Amino acid sequence: MTSILPIPALAQFTAQTFTLRPDSKIVMTGDSAEVFWVASFLAARLRPATGFELPVRMQSRPESGDVLLEVAEAPGLGEEGYELSATPETVTLRAAGNAGLFYAAQTLRQMFPPEIESGLEQPGLAWTVQCGQIRDVPRYAWRGMMLDVGRHFFPPSTVKRLIDLLAYHKINVLHLHLSDDQGWRIMIESWPWLALHGGSTATNGDPGGFYTQDDYRDIVAYASQRYITVVPEIDMPGHTNAALASYEELNENGVAPNLYTGIRVGFSSLAVHKEITYQFVDDVVREIAALTPGSYFHIGGDETLSTTEEDYKYFIERVQAIVARHGKRMIGWEEVGKTRLEPGALVQHWWNKEVTARAATQGAKIIASPAGRTYLDIKYHDHTTLGQNWTGAFTEVRDSYEWDPSDSIEGVPDESILGIEAALWTETIFTEGNLEFMVFPRLCGCAEIGWSPREGRDWESYRQRLASHGKRLAKMGVQFYRSEQVDWD
Ligand code: ACM
Repeated sequence: MTSILPIPALAQFTAQTFTLRPDSKIVMTGDSAEVFWVASFLAARLRPATGFELPVRMQSRPESGDVLLEVAEAPGLGEEGYELSATPETVTLRAAGNAGLFYAAQTLRQMFPPEIESGLEQPGLAWTVQCGQIRDVPRYAWRGMMLDVGRHFFPPSTVKRLIDLLAYHKINVLHLHLSDDQGWRIMIESWPWLALHGGSTATNGDPGGFYTQDDYRDIVAYASQRYITVVPEIDMPGHTNAALASYEELNENGVAPNLYTGIRVGFSSLAVHKEITYQFVDDVVREIAALTPGSYFHIGGDETLSTTEEDYKYFIERVQAIVARHGKRMIGWEEVGKTRLEPGALVQHWWNKEVTARAATQGAKIIASPAGRTYLDIKYHDHTTLGQNWTGAFTEVRDSYEWDPSDSIEGVPDESILGIEAALWTETIFTEGNLEFMVFPRLCGCAEIGWSPREGRDWESYRQRLASHGKRLAKMGVQFYRSEQVDWD
């Protein structure tokens, strides 16, 4: 039984099968470099377990046993939609855009037996897929995940592994929370002490770290090849102790505080009335914008308990102009809804529906990240030890799946919702294994909410597909939480 996650918009299967063979080829009809990249990506995913050569060839039509990739006009598919047709002879992946072709390849991976994800050759298995027709388009344009590298630093290798797993679930945004009280994680050449000093430690006094600009460029390029936009966040004016500790002139009283390794929030603020603050913001936004092909710059703006409301408005409105001057669209956490937003601003809802609705009333598009549903730092259950429970509840797999962005924020109309983003805060998370345990399988549910039509999804179908999906995650070595709510295969 074929089981695809996120569930496609339309899929019909038959009793027949297609079988990949030692002489199968990945075929493209044109010479597009982007299609070649997707074809090569697919071949690279299918080679280790099958042991087949799977060469990528340009030829006018596929032969028996081949997989064909083509970009062709297709009304209604958009950039990200695709069609997949599997007959006993061939499999055809067709899309109007390269991203759609890439998602078709991700779907095809999930149609093979789960052993396809094994890194070692699996002799004696038949590499069959069930024949049928799929036509699939995403529901939301924004399907994201945030990783907090401020509270704990994660090296580029971990971020890249996560990017591959995001792409596998058709997620198209990676939001990196690059600074917080506990750490500054990206080199800013005009203010190097931010990373050198501000990045030197982490929560709990754990080792720090930061991305060089080359590391960051490399992450952005790796994500972009997988049709993922990296959104950088520099959180301000609060959550700034690491910056304040690095440069005394950014402090209201001119005195640099010590580095901070605890988990309190809301105690730090940039000096809102000093001009040097805006020079600092301008330099940081300018340098990061230059590394960022994506359209967005996230300024944080949350939990500014040490900034007066009047100062907050003054600060955000000035920073908004700086972001625009560097050619980016501003994103802020919902609190920025209290200020005057320029057209094009995006607002990320996490807790307060009233301020989120104020942002929507001003025309801002909303990214839905309600903490009780999408915050991956929240414990699953009272018997799981990792994570926190500051939301006042646990977030089991079912809680993270069984809700819908379109009716979760009163006062925000459906057409204002751009999409969904899950968020991993990392106060208590610091190894790759910790990260995977908190992220999976809850992220799979967020991916389905973001991609699949609302009417196409329900918990019973999802938990069965998740049970089968777990075998794939296990083959990839993902250390996911085996919730008792799911009868894992
Ligand atoms: C947040 O959770 N403070 C955005």
